Amino acid sequence: MTAELSPIDKAKYAAARRSVDFVENGMKLGLGTGSTAAWMVRCLAERIRNDGLKVTTVATSKRTADLARDLGVPVMALDDVRWLDLTIDGTDEFDPNLNLIKGGGAALLQEKIVATASDRMVVIADAAKEVAQLGAFPLPVEVIPFGWQTTKALIEETLFSLDVLNREVKVRLNRGKPLKTDGGNYILDLHLKRIGNPRQLALVLNQIPGVVENGLFIDICDIVVIGNGDGRVTVRDINSGRVEDTTVDLAQSANIFADLGE
Ligand code: A5P
Repeated sequence: MTAELSPIDKAKYAAARRSVDFVENGMKLGLGTGSTAAWMVRCLAERIRNDGLKVTTVATSKRTADLARDLGVPVMALDDVRWLDLTIDGTDEFDPNLNLIKGGGAALLQEKIVATASDRMVVIADAAKEVAQLGAFPLPVEVIPFGWQTTKALIEETLFSLDVLNREVKVRLNRGKPLKTDGGNYILDLHLKRIGNPRQLALVLNQIPGVVENGLFIDICDIVVIGNGDGRVTVRDINSGRVEDTTVDLAQSANIFADLGE
């Protein structure tokens, strides 16, 4: 079964599999969005089924909530849970300080709210997501539809005073129209190529009227779990400085691959 998965999917799966070891009975959990997070939801569902694990979860998108419920994972509203023990989510890029670019799946707003409401954030990624400096992946910024062209122009103007390599801003489209997020907003993708000062950029962007949130996650992630196509996994904890290498047995995971509806 595993032979049908690409090396990148195996890497995402390996990271996801290892990440659910952080989940303990009774925990309140944030569930991320994206293909890596979807693997994590499947692995979590397996632990609920096989080990009788009891958890309460909050999803970062409608997509993830639907998947979790389909697999028998209980999902609640953040307002009913308020504070979470742990969030596990994917990322588009992470740097040596575990600062992130997120939002490739257009869920950055709920992802940031949920991660910030959590005691710990564990990020799961394939090794290709690691970068020396953020910015090769276009930075998603969620904006209110009202006057979005003006907001876009303001962002472009603001970028001139910031340490970035490129300043192209594009609205994200879905079938020729601006894509709508779960919150009914639009996404502007900032093609910056290199972000010299992510902390400053994150603060400045959020001061522009019309901007709801940006995809820079600064000082939010605690642990990154990096998967490789051969099942090797590295866990890096930014607070303790600990690095641990393990291997996920991909051959023993045939059940979960067989269950795949994709
Ligand atoms: C969703 O909005 C994003 O933040 C995802 O977490 C990110 O795009 C990673 O997605 P993949 O796991 O599909 O690469």
